[in-house]
Amino acid sequence: MEVVICPNAAEVGRVAARKVAAVCRAAGPHAVLGVATGSSPLATYAELAKLVAAGELDLSQAHAFALDEYVGLPEGHPQSYAEVIRTTVTEPLGMKPSQVHVPAGHAADIDAAAAEYEQLIHAVGGVDVQILGVGSNGHIGFNEPVSSLASRTRIKTLTARTRADNARFFSSLDEVPHHCLTQGLGTIMDARQVVLVAQGKWKAAAVAALVEGPIAAMVPGSVLQLHRFATIVVDADAASELTMSDYYRTAFEHKPDWQHFDRMN
Ligand code: GLP
Repeated sequence: MEVVICPNAAEVGRVAARKVAAVCRAAGPHAVLGVATGSSPLATYAELAKLVAAGELDLSQAHAFALDEYVGLPEGHPQSYAEVIRTTVTEPLGMKPSQVHVPAGHAADIDAAAAEYEQLIHAVGGVDVQILGVGSNGHIGFNEPVSSLASRTRIKTLTARTRADNARFFSSLDEVPHHCLTQGLGTIMDARQVVLVAQGKWKAAAVAALVEGPIAAMVPGSVLQLHRFATIVVDADAASELTMSDYYRTAFEHKPDWQHFDRMN
């Protein structure tokens, strides 16, 4: 696990975007991107969009797979993740809508939709780089505490804490669905690289547990400790409860030049 501590939230987006762009370029025109919703990756998407606009990154033939979707929202609901991904990823990154996929949370047969989603990811060769945020309770995707560390795409019930955290996107808590369709932790672990971003003090405890705590289903994101290529990009506030910050900073500063994914052009 590589931990990169950035001075501020804007820098988190810049560094994460450069890492993602480097993996996409190496993977070629048909790169497969894993995308998360929530506020954490928005700066990363904005930086990726700048690279696309500058002609430094071409995602026009790339594929993308969202991590999750609410169950119970009508198709086209502005807070459905299908809509959020369309406006924050597909359009600004110049991707083909037909190649950007979101789990079908509105499907009549949720189990079948989950199995189809897994097959679709497999059919394009798997995810090259998965962008992740982390919930304040340590969830990744919508894999709430005590999710199986081997789980695949399936329906989950949201915790009260996650519904409360996400109520800011809706007009009231009552409007936040109770269920979601989410890639499992096993699905996420199949991505060849993962880049997790977190900003702010309210994520500090989750980041510390995920990076330095024991691997435990109570902190679903801690499964990333078993991933061979996981990069955790955080601002100083989100890093504030890490005990090894000095080491992470030193390691990043002393990276051999050839390893520096954030030095481009
Ligand atoms: C959301 C999403 C996750 C996201 C997390 C954190 O509910 N399902 O993919 O990473 O919770 O959200 P935010 O980035 O808004 O804090």
